[in-house]
Amino acid sequence: MAKKLWDKNSTINPAIERFTVGKDRELDLLLAPYDILGSIAHSAMLQSIGMLTLEEKELLHHELRNIYSIVESGEFIIEEGVEDVHSQVELMLTRKLGDAGKKIHSGRSRNDQVLVDLKLFTRHELQDICEAVVALFDALQKQSEKHKDVLMPGYTHLQVAMPSSFGLWFGAYAESLADDMLFLQAAYRMCNRNPLGSAAGYGSSFPLNRTMTTELLGFDSMNYNVVYSQMGRGKCEKNVAFALASVAGTLSKMAFDACMFNSQNFGFVKLPAECTTGSSIMPHKKNPDVFEIMRAKCNRLQALPMDITIIMNNLPSGYFRDLQVIKELFLPAFAEIKECLAMATYIIERIEVNKEILNDSRYDAMFSVEEVNRLATEGMPFRDAYKKVGLDIEAGTFVPDKNIRHTHEGSIGNLCTEDIRKTMYSIYEAMNIEKARKAEEALLKS
Ligand code: ARG
Repeated sequence: MAKKLWDKNSTINPAIERFTVGKDRELDLLLAPYDILGSIAHSAMLQSIGMLTLEEKELLHHELRNIYSIVESGEFIIEEGVEDVHSQVELMLTRKLGDAGKKIHSGRSRNDQVLVDLKLFTRHELQDICEAVVALFDALQKQSEKHKDVLMPGYTHLQVAMPSSFGLWFGAYAESLADDMLFLQAAYRMCNRNPLGSAAGYGSSFPLNRTMTTELLGFDSMNYNVVYSQMGRGKCEKNVAFALASVAGTLSKMAFDACMFNSQNFGFVKLPAECTTGSSIMPHKKNPDVFEIMRAKCNRLQALPMDITIIMNNLPSGYFRDLQVIKELFLPAFAEIKECLAMATYIIERIEVNKEILNDSRYDAMFSVEEVNRLATEGMPFRDAYKKVGLDIEAGTFVPDKNIRHTHEGSIGNLCTEDIRKTMYSIYEAMNIEKARKAEEALLKS
């Protein structure tokens, strides 16, 4: 049996085939469950418009669920000579069901099939990532509250500047994630629109019911315009990549802080021994390699939007095979960031903080502004107070008062943990990720 969907009895150059198939046979495995979900919805719709009999639909659904369980068991493969997941599933259906299998491609193209697969895959991955982001957020907020009274130096120019606290440090990264969640929400919503039915990018003369597949697949709405649906290929990936890059930016900065604060010269935090690695020559070493690898991976993830932009830049509207190459960069990014989030959460939950940092006199000068402000509150003009304290420091007579009183919103004494929590959860809950999950479950049962 011919293994190319487009085979018309002409010979294919094997080198050309290898080059054009590229990494699809391996990467498309990630799309397999979603290709099947898309086909369940599409065939239900075809039956509703009279393009399949009820019996054909039932046979197709039974077999599609069967293939789904092969995917779940890890035994699904894209055979040699088969181009991609779309061809493989159709081939399996046709082998088993004959004509019913051959009918399933009515009114669609691999162009809208890969679009819908990518949307469903990305939607699923974004659900996982949002949950992982919330877990790290919770861990950071917990540490922030637990250590809210433990002071540490704050730096500008990496010079000791003003008092800070572990409450602020942990809490800052939690709030950063709440902003990242805005990008994730936008990415999720852009992704959660149905391109199926746009076919090759210009629709179909069959009376497709796109509203029906939109509902069956649990999308918020469709990408209405068939030309725009196809234009979403690459655009959606790029914008999702921006959201991942935003999270990655938070993680890489946090990783740098953690590596630096863990070094003996700072000694502000201590990673649990099980989270460090040793040296082959220096027996004393407990290195923070986890955070270093996280930093490198997250820095690379921040280049992803640009890598995608470069591939799709200057393409006019309509499908091009260039878009296939985006999958090579885009699909693996999700596992990468999920691993980094899991590692970060594990360590943040276990990291120890040094409660004695400020007993070291090298940090005394950072209380200078506290003293200036105390004098100013008592009536001395700020500039005169600034000068007096400066001269005292120069003369070595400055005695720091380490009882600091910061009360305004977001400061050491008023972290606004609850307000930040509300911000995060309101964004997360508005995404209503359960809706899509329920629709997918129902498709596999119906
Ligand atoms: N593997 C292809 C991709 O990722 C599937 C679509 C093929 N469409 C085509 N017109 N050749 O883009």
